Amino acid sequence: MTTNSSAVMITGVAGLIGSHLAETLLAQGHQVFAMDVVDPATCHNLDLVRDHPAFHYTKGDIRDPAFIKAFFRPDAAVLYHLASVVGVNRYMEDPLSLIDIAIIGTRNLIELCERHGVRMLFTSTSEVYGRNPAVPWREDDDRVLGATNVDRWSYSASKGVCEHMLFGMHHKSGWPMSIVRFFNVYGPRQNPIYVVSKAVHRVLNGVAPELYDGGQQTRCLTYIGDVIGGVIAAANSDAAIGQAINLGNPVENTMAEVVQMVLEEAGSSLTPIPVDTGKRYGDVYEDIGRRVPAVDKAAQLLGWRATTSARQGIANTIAWARENPWYLA
Ligand SMILES: NC(=O)c1ccc[n+]([C@@H]2O[C@H](COP(=O)([O-])OP(=O)(O)OC[C@H]3O[C@@H](n4cnc5c(N)ncnc54)[C@H](O)[C@@H]3O)[C@@H](O)[C@H]2O)c1
Repeated sequence: MTTNSSAVMITGVAGLIGSHLAETLLAQGHQVFAMDVVDPATCHNLDLVRDHPAFHYTKGDIRDPAFIKAFFRPDAAVLYHLASVVGVNRYMEDPLSLIDIAIIGTRNLIELCERHGVRMLFTSTSEVYGRNPAVPWREDDDRVLGATNVDRWSYSASKGVCEHMLFGMHHKSGWPMSIVRFFNVYGPRQNPIYVVSKAVHRVLNGVAPELYDGGQQTRCLTYIGDVIGGVIAAANSDAAIGQAINLGNPVENTMAEVVQMVLEEAGSSLTPIPVDTGKRYGDVYEDIGRRVPAVDKAAQLLGWRATTSARQGIANTIAWARENPWYLA
């Protein structure tokens, strides 16, 4: 099949990263063939792309081989594969779906991409490194996971299996694929169940933000506006073929600092509520103290670095939320 370089596919387009990616690819002149499980008419994340003449949306599930076959464009240059269950609470609530969507869904897509020679950009996670204490994490560092009776590791384990499928098929046939591993991406439109989005949502609604286990855990917050350029570069660069690449901001902030920044940028005098995750979630939950990306591979292969500070990204997110009352409802 001849490649139509203007056509690209996106799975999980209605999510935080997918919706921003679609906007950028449309602005670059691509025909965007996109899918998700949501109804596009009622999904606010698609407000800015829904009616674009080059945006072609199909509702469906990546676990359904017949649906995926009908959705698939063999002439597309790239499949951006983002569909996934994301978020600690969600995978603790429905572990079978999480694993099925990751493994069965990704397998369906790999088979079609490999058969038709379509490049895949797979979105993986810093969670694949598990709780390896030796930060910053380089892309070929060991994975250090906890016991299988701790549910949080199912996300890391299933994304790890996906990475094995991608690497295995690449090694076998030379099929072009690239993997990016995100580190705590946040920004406008994010479902308010993650550290920044949840704090912003609560504070702008006049509800005190929560602080888990004293708030001394750190995260490297990576702003959505920085991430999209890295994703597109990874999907198009020859140097990125057959590679996994961290996309993260290496600057660490404690959760206490992050919540404080949200309060300050929102001009709020609320006091954070301490939460003991052991009491709330029990033994099936386990936090990771530090997650820090090594960033030299992204810089060398893609010329990419995150440049937005946590304070600036939080301020942007708050400004956007104030202009979009549907988000705060
Ligand atoms: N945001 C982050 O910090 C982060 C960190 C690490 C990895 N990632 C990865 O990046 C990708 C995008 O993440 P996001 O933050 O935009 O998440 P998101 O939850 O906002 O988006 C995921 C999208 O996938 C869709 N989806 C779920 N199951 C599906 C299915 N069976 N078929 C089709 N679509 C389905 C959801 O409806 C949702 O719109 C995911 O693969 C995620 O694992 C994100």
